Amino acid sequence: MIRREVVDEILLRNDIESLIGSYISLKRAGSNLKGLCPFHNEKTPSFTVYPADNTFYCFGCGVGGNAITFVRQAEHLDYPDAIEFLAKRAGITVVRDDEPKYEKPSIDKNKLLRMNTDAAKFFHQSLFQNTPEARAALAYFTERRGLSMATIKHFGLGFAPNSFDSLMKFMLNRGYTRDELVVAYLAGKSESGNYYDAFRNRVMFPIIDVTGNVIAFGGRVMDDSKPKYKNTMDTPVFKKSRNLFALNFAKNTGSESLILCEGYMDVIALHAAGFTNAVATLGTAITSEQARLMSRYTKKVVISYDADEAGQKAAQKAMRLLSEVGLEVGVIKVPGAKDPDEYIKTYGKEKFAEVISNSKSKFEYNMESILSRYDINLPQDRINALTELEKLISGVYSAAERDIYIREVSAKLDVNPKSVQNDVERLARIQYSKDKKSESELIKQKTAGYRDRVNPDYAKAPAVAKSEESLLGLLLMYPEHRRRVFEEELVSSADFYTELNRRVFEFVMDAYQRGEQPSDLDRIFSPDEVGRITQMKVGRMQLAKNDSDVLYECINSLKCAVRKKSAESVSSIDDLNKLINLKRNKEG
Ligand code: UTP
Ligand code: MN
Repeated sequence: MIRREVVDEILLRNDIESLIGSYISLKRAGSNLKGLCPFHNEKTPSFTVYPADNTFYCFGCGVGGNAITFVRQAEHLDYPDAIEFLAKRAGITVVRDDEPKYEKPSIDKNKLLRMNTDAAKFFHQSLFQNTPEARAALAYFTERRGLSMATIKHFGLGFAPNSFDSLMKFMLNRGYTRDELVVAYLAGKSESGNYYDAFRNRVMFPIIDVTGNVIAFGGRVMDDSKPKYKNTMDTPVFKKSRNLFALNFAKNTGSESLILCEGYMDVIALHAAGFTNAVATLGTAITSEQARLMSRYTKKVVISYDADEAGQKAAQKAMRLLSEVGLEVGVIKVPGAKDPDEYIKTYGKEKFAEVISNSKSKFEYNMESILSRYDINLPQDRINALTELEKLISGVYSAAERDIYIREVSAKLDVNPKSVQNDVERLARIQYSKDKKSESELIKQKTAGYRDRVNPDYAKAPAVAKSEESLLGLLLMYPEHRRRVFEEELVSSADFYTELNRRVFEFVMDAYQRGEQPSDLDRIFSPDEVGRITQMKVGRMQLAKNDSDVLYECINSLKCAVRKKSAESVSSIDDLNKLINLKRNKEG
């Protein structure tokens, strides 16, 4: 949790006008400012900044909120990272205390990050020393791996000398203690109590998070000895399952997809060749946290793993995790090379671009892998392949897509498309009745979400939802309305029909009860939701009428709706609750 006072201080010291002004050009329009929206394409400005309220709102695409919301979207950061970004901008230090405590000696996380930065500098400098070992390390990068000086500098690559204390000496000189080095995983401590550098005689890859902090290192041997890579274990500032190598560069490239590789060297080779949207996991298989992380920056991920069996197996898992978080997935298999790094060095970047543009969908990829396991000239193999493929197709949701695959498979196996279709339909029916219930639930959610993604309940009762929004707008804008509504308990959260608006109401009430302004929306709501909530406020601001009549009208229409819904006359919430319990008992 980041303390509320810290958030307020950060919002105070980052005035919205200068923050947004550093991204787009703003022109005065009365007491507000206008500019071209940085989040959608437009020719006439509908992006408005309200300095008095420290708020922005775009009438074109509906983004809106405060400085934190802006940074979340403009820099693709989550809430804590956005806070950190703004803190840095205002020269404030924030310490996070949300992550699990570490048993080792407690240490300030900012100090740990400074240590990593200093260590990265040391490793980088060590690459350019005039010693035989440093020259050999540099030659490893330039000659053996074909990296340019620019690439080496861009990634801040380095060298850990073959010594037990060279980093330690450097760091002790800078005032860090040996135990702190151990916490940072930069040093180890032997049973007999001796400290030693954790990385020795390895070329070094610093790992940088999306806010630009060095959080960890990977170190590679320069020969065939084992282990090939040594990586920083999890520390208070690093969780390998939550970070990706080179995402700090890839997140801002504006490319519509990310390329996911297995190795550091693949990513570096791809970036050097201009594919700056490449990222890699950090020495482990991809996790759902990493999938979610990617989904914050892109809609599509192209998996480009090693060509060996392990790589292809890992690709299956990656496909599943990535589609689970709603990402479109493409898969490529580099032909005639063991990994993307080798491919690009052998065949060049144009060829790789071709491979990428011919990336396979999950279905095509699975189809090919099924076909590769059978010899379709043998009848039994052909039947087995067909059975597997029919099952695969029956799992495809869209009928049109199924049609396409049926035709493709029948042509490949030279069978009658009609019979394939019959089989697929039968399989699909079985599947359908199996999870009919959850399916219909899903469709309901999907179609509601199609109408209004942010407030899916809106379409079911637009008039009520509208009253809710007006009421919330008034509450968000005017302290006197908050006082009246909450002190006199004029409305309760049970009066809200749409789930989003109920949550907003609860948020405002919660803030009121703590004596806070209802301003830190980003702590709880997604950027889309914050945009919607800002729209409610802006709607009120435009009317510039803080009218009690409107307040009572809104409250009235909510109460009416609640009564109508219960279909009986309910005079208080207590009655409503009784009614609900009664119904439950009847049903149960
Ligand atoms: P690779 O063995 O494919 O390495 O492992 P690479 O990055 O392609 O390196 P080169 O081209 O052989 O030099 C892929 C990734 O798996 C992790 C590393 O993150 C590596 O980049 N790994 C591999 C380890 O963490 N430890 C190991 O011992 C090996
Ligand atoms: Mn590799």
